[in-house]
Amino acid sequence: MTTRRTLLHIDSSARVQGSYSRQLTQTFVQAWQSANGWQSGEDAAPIIYRDIGQTPVPAIDETWAASYETEPEARTGEMEAAIALSDELLDELFAADCYVFGVPMYNLTIPATLKAYIDQVVRRDRTLEFINGKPQGRLKGKKALVITTRKFNYREGTDAAARNFLEPYLKAIFKIMGIEDVTFVLADQLAAGDEVRDMSLDQAEAELLSLAKTW
Ligand SMILES: Cc1cc2nc3c(=O)[nH]c(=O)nc-3n(C[C@H](O)[C@H](O)[C@H](O)COP(=O)(O)O)c2cc1C
Repeated sequence: MTTRRTLLHIDSSARVQGSYSRQLTQTFVQAWQSANGWQSGEDAAPIIYRDIGQTPVPAIDETWAASYETEPEARTGEMEAAIALSDELLDELFAADCYVFGVPMYNLTIPATLKAYIDQVVRRDRTLEFINGKPQGRLKGKKALVITTRKFNYREGTDAAARNFLEPYLKAIFKIMGIEDVTFVLADQLAAGDEVRDMSLDQAEAELLSLAKTW
């Protein structure tokens, strides 16, 4: 019997109807639960769910930034209030052992809603510490699965590869937070006609079903 783990599932597509990334994250989370025998009852794996596509977290503002720059004991009530959601999001990140993100490509990179989430959780007093001037992430030992969807093909070897700022950005920012075990599963060419789209979705689904058994 493997140890029960807590999974944080985050969807960031702006749409619900017809969203491929939501469909794929759901498929994976269900398969992961049943592969581990954690589907229901007392043994159900704890899943924390955030839908930042439908309920976006706010962009950080002046009071948030002032709070970030102020030691916790010196923060005003207003500063505490501005950073309260960030603390809640961070508690979820620390409580979970693994993370599943549904991430459509928007304008060559992640959706603004996911960027707003990242701005809320990358914090020098919680996710990072600076040792000899270098950031050390505190989410060490956690792993992330990013299920990403897009209309076109940005794979290595294509002319478009240099315009893909999604995977490189997420890899870099996760590393800063200490998350080094990151897997990407891709469904792309979703605008290349029904046949290519279905093949791409089937392939991503097969990869996810196989990964769910070992992840
Ligand atoms: C605002 C916006 C920007 C997009 N930009 C890109 C892009 O730069 N490259 C791309 O291949 N697809 C782009 N797309 C297409 C989406 O990545 C694609 O429709 C994907 O399936 C969306 O995920 P979803 O199905 O979960 O909603 C964009 C879609 C939207 C709505």
